[in-house]
Amino acid sequence: MNKIFDGFYYVGVNDRVTHKFESLWPIPLGVSYNSYLVKGENKIALIDGVELSEIDTLNENIHEAIGKTAPDYLIINHMEPDHSGAIKILHNLYPDMVIVGNSKTLDMVKGYYGITENTLKVADNDTLDLGGLTLTFKLTPMVHWPETMMTYVNEWKMLFSGDAFGCFGAINGGILDSDTDVEMYIPEMYRYYSNIVGKYGAFVQKAIAKFADTKIDYICPTHGPIWHEARERVVGIYDRLSKYEAETGVTIVYGSMYGHTEKMADTIARQLAKRGIKNIRIHNAANTDLSYILSDIFKYKGLIIGAPTYSNSLFPPIEALLYAIANREVKNRVVASFGNFTWGGQAVKRINAAFEQTKLAAPDVISVEAKMNPDEAAHNNCIALADAVADNLLGQDGTSN
Ligand code: FEO
Repeated sequence: MNKIFDGFYYVGVNDRVTHKFESLWPIPLGVSYNSYLVKGENKIALIDGVELSEIDTLNENIHEAIGKTAPDYLIINHMEPDHSGAIKILHNLYPDMVIVGNSKTLDMVKGYYGITENTLKVADNDTLDLGGLTLTFKLTPMVHWPETMMTYVNEWKMLFSGDAFGCFGAINGGILDSDTDVEMYIPEMYRYYSNIVGKYGAFVQKAIAKFADTKIDYICPTHGPIWHEARERVVGIYDRLSKYEAETGVTIVYGSMYGHTEKMADTIARQLAKRGIKNIRIHNAANTDLSYILSDIFKYKGLIIGAPTYSNSLFPPIEALLYAIANREVKNRVVASFGNFTWGGQAVKRINAAFEQTKLAAPDVISVEAKMNPDEAAHNNCIALADAVADNLLGQDGTSN
C-alpha cells in the first residue's frame, strides 16, 4: 500500500507504454499520473485522477488504501485527460462522490464527460473541511490550461500543484524525493517544462507569487515524485525557467544534408570550447527529437542556429524549430546564425527574420553564410562568430564558466 503517512496515500499510476505524451513528446523514462487520497476525520478527498486506460489500477489503489469506503470528493486541479480521463468511470463507480472544481473546470467536466450533477463549484481561496484537515483552493489559471488550480492542505503545509513542478519519468519505487534518485528527474523536468508549460512563463510566475507567503513542506505534482527535501530546488528551476533565465552555455542546432553546415557547427563549437565554454550542446535537428532541443534552449543562454538553403527556403526541421521557439516566446538569449547554400542563399536570411519576429535579435544577429564547402574565409568567419558569442556570454575578460 502506498501510504505516505497516516491519512495520506499515493494512489497514482505509472505509464511505461505510451510512446509520446500528448502524441508529441517521447517519454523513454515513462511518466506517472499522480493521484492522491487525503483522509480527514469525516471525509476523504481524492485529489486528481488518471488517464482513462489506467482506471483499474487507480481503483485497486483506492481500495487498498481505504477499503470499500468511497471517496467523498474528487478534487480536480487540472482537466487535461491525462488526469481527468477516468472521471466518467469514477463517477459511475462512486455516484455519491462530489466532483470539485472551479467554474471553468466544471464547464470542461460537462463538455468532456457530460457530467453536470453532484458537483461543487469553488472559487479562489474557498475551503473544504474534511474534519481536522482543511483544503484551500487557489486558482492558478494558464498553468497551463485556463482552469488550472492548486489545492493546499493547511494542516500539512502540503500543496497539490497540478502540472506545475512536475516532470516526465515514471515513479521508480520511491514516491517521495527522499526515497529516489532525484537526479534522474531533473533533466526530465527541464524537458517537461520547456515543452508543456514553456509558453506560459508569466502565469507560472503569477502562481509562484501567489504562494510567496505560504509555508510549503510538500509539493505533490501530477507527474513525478513528491517534492519534500528538494522542494526549494524544484521551485527554483520552475522560477528560473518561467523567467527565461538561463545558464552560461550554448545550444547549437543545425540541419545539414551533405555535411557542409555540420562542419560549420563543429568549427563554431570548437572555438566556443577554446574560449572556455564547457556547456555546449550540438543537435542535428533532423535526428534529435524537438523536445530535447527545446529543453537545452530553455537551459542555456547562447543559441546558435544553422541550416542549408532547401528548395529556395529553409531546411524544414529548422523551420519547425523556429516555430516552436516563437510559440514558447523564448526571450533573453544570445543568438547567432549560420548557413550554407550552393546557388542561392536563403537560410540565414530566414533564420534571422525568425529571430527578429521573436524579438531574439536585439540589436543584431551575428551571421555567417558559406557557399558550398566552407572555404578558409568561411571557416574564419565561423571562428569570429563563436568569439562574438563567447564575448557576449563570458564578458570581455573571457572568464570561463
Ligand atoms: Fe498533466 Fe496538463 O496535464
